[in-house]
Amino acid sequence: METVTTDREACWLTTESSKPRTEKLLLSLVGDAPMFATIRRLCQNHAAKFFVETAITDRDTGKSNVIIGTWTSLGKESTPNLGSEGYTIFSEEGRLWIVAEEERGLLYGFYHFLKEIQLGTPLLEISAQEKPANVFRMINHWDNMDGSVERGYAGRSLFFEGGSFTKDEDCMRSYAELLSSVGINALTINNVNVHEQESALITNRWLPEVAWLAKLFQEYGLTLFLSINYASPITIGGLDTADPLETSVADWWERQVERIYGSIPSFGGFVVKADSEHRPGPFSYGRTHADGANMLAKALKPYGGHLFWRCFVYDCLQDWRDRSTDRARAAYDHFAPLDGAFADNVILQIKSGPMDFQVREAVSPLIGALKQTKHVIELQITQEYTGQQIDVCYLPPQWKEILDFDTHANGKDTTVADLVSGRANGGFGQGMTAVVNTGRDENWTGHSFAQANLYGYGQLAWNPKRCLHAIAEEWADRTYPYLPKNVRKTIVSIQECSWIVYESYTSPLGIGWMVNPGHHYGPNVNGYEFSPWGTYHFSDRNGLGVDRTRKGSNYVSQYAEPVGSRYENLQTCPDELLLFFHHVPYTHVLTSGKTVIQHIYDSHFDGVEQVKAFIAAWESHKQELPEALYQHVRVKFDAQLANAVEWRDQVNTYYYRMSGIEDKHGRTIYR
Ligand code: GCU
Repeated sequence: METVTTDREACWLTTESSKPRTEKLLLSLVGDAPMFATIRRLCQNHAAKFFVETAITDRDTGKSNVIIGTWTSLGKESTPNLGSEGYTIFSEEGRLWIVAEEERGLLYGFYHFLKEIQLGTPLLEISAQEKPANVFRMINHWDNMDGSVERGYAGRSLFFEGGSFTKDEDCMRSYAELLSSVGINALTINNVNVHEQESALITNRWLPEVAWLAKLFQEYGLTLFLSINYASPITIGGLDTADPLETSVADWWERQVERIYGSIPSFGGFVVKADSEHRPGPFSYGRTHADGANMLAKALKPYGGHLFWRCFVYDCLQDWRDRSTDRARAAYDHFAPLDGAFADNVILQIKSGPMDFQVREAVSPLIGALKQTKHVIELQITQEYTGQQIDVCYLPPQWKEILDFDTHANGKDTTVADLVSGRANGGFGQGMTAVVNTGRDENWTGHSFAQANLYGYGQLAWNPKRCLHAIAEEWADRTYPYLPKNVRKTIVSIQECSWIVYESYTSPLGIGWMVNPGHHYGPNVNGYEFSPWGTYHFSDRNGLGVDRTRKGSNYVSQYAEPVGSRYENLQTCPDELLLFFHHVPYTHVLTSGKTVIQHIYDSHFDGVEQVKAFIAAWESHKQELPEALYQHVRVKFDAQLANAVEWRDQVNTYYYRMSGIEDKHGRTIYR
């Protein structure tokens, strides 16, 4: 039995082929694109192992079987308009051509070639014409300089340790390859909660290190951004204010930005979390978010920099007795009235849902409400509320549902995907960003299956319309080529239903939360119920759920019609979001025909059985699996089962006690 590598870098890009090819690779890199150095390295590290022999030349000798170059360097007439990142692959006169307008397109074209080589496609049958749907395909690291990672479930930070940079070039290059191989083109390296140490990243003390990283990532088409502390003029600048309308503050930022671009010409700009969860912001000075953002954007503008300004702004010091404040309303209430007031290099960063990356929530109504402001959607790849890379929870089906959601913002068929890509709003949509799930653990993400979330994110950010099943299969085929096909099929089917399984044994019907406060793993029905965070379910002996209808918090009115009315109406509100929008009695009958209480019991019992079925499927392949991989996943499954059982028993017991209603099937509920 072949042994599986469990080293840190094992991934879809690094696995060996089970079927080595019989050809030689004679590759010509035509032209003088700096990106060719990267392509050469990728070829040596990843492509060469598939061929009996590999040779690379820097001009077309006529003998090469694969030729890479821009339309100009190859002296060919550019046909399709695929932009700076698009590429074409075609065969002509018995040779394969990878051609693009610009060098980043060449890089992505080469990755495409690599993928097909891995999957065993005959050389001359490789063909593609690709262009990314989104301008920004970004990831955000929530890494701190002490090496910890906020909401990180894959070990220590890749970038930092002990208050300094790790500066591990091999690791950084492998990581840059991992990201760019799925089309990601921008990243932040530090946490949105910028503490004292990280505030200094923009100073001379750390700029050389940031510049080193930025240059390395740039070689892979990745633009580096930093998260900044809004109060930096005070924290590191010695001023007594961070008021955006104070000239001294604006001047201070201008000087910082000038210094940054002096060291890092490719620098992307800043990401800002302001006036959110105790982070400083313009509210302290009676200024608006537009005032705050525009001042920073002005400093970045001369260098082509962008300012990502997060819309995760809400009152986190609520009183649970106050039913008039609804956290779900906050992003829209703060930002929709400011539409059009932001500078053109400000990009608002909107969490996909109005609360906070729950296993299920409605789509943020702010997406679609912004008609004249640039924006991106923010997703969470790291599994904070979705199993923390212990439980399997493959998230692309959730993201696809969000991206396919019809907001009706510009009439029927205005999907989130078309809004964030800018297709439906004249370019105001700027793409996607996501909190990433990687760290220094083995295979980058701790749980080997969790890698698929990063893979799927990259694929959907490149093309939100791509078939989900194809993405899942492709990831499994590339990551585990040494496994028999039937085992890969099992892995794919577990992945594909895992989000729904996770949902079934956690918080019911879209209500969210019910997690242990602080770390957010495991059940605690009332963990946040009487806390200041504004995350309530309002369960009592009569019923549960949040009334967000017109008679309640009126959150439904933030949606375009007929979406708002669909949620308002009990008959048309989808079951899976019922408790997100309505407070109902336990005996309320869902469109599925079950009562709410029976649904709670059934889904929680069922969720545990499904996890047992995952384990049984895994066990059935024990003989076909390398021991290390078998054990790696089995250990996680055992922990997932324990978690699912705990959720089932806590939630069912809680609602049995609250409602006093028996389970129709008489199963054991811990009374
Ligand atoms: C969540 C998460 C925090 C994070 C915040 C954010 O609340 O638990 O750790 O800082 O989101 O997105 O800013």
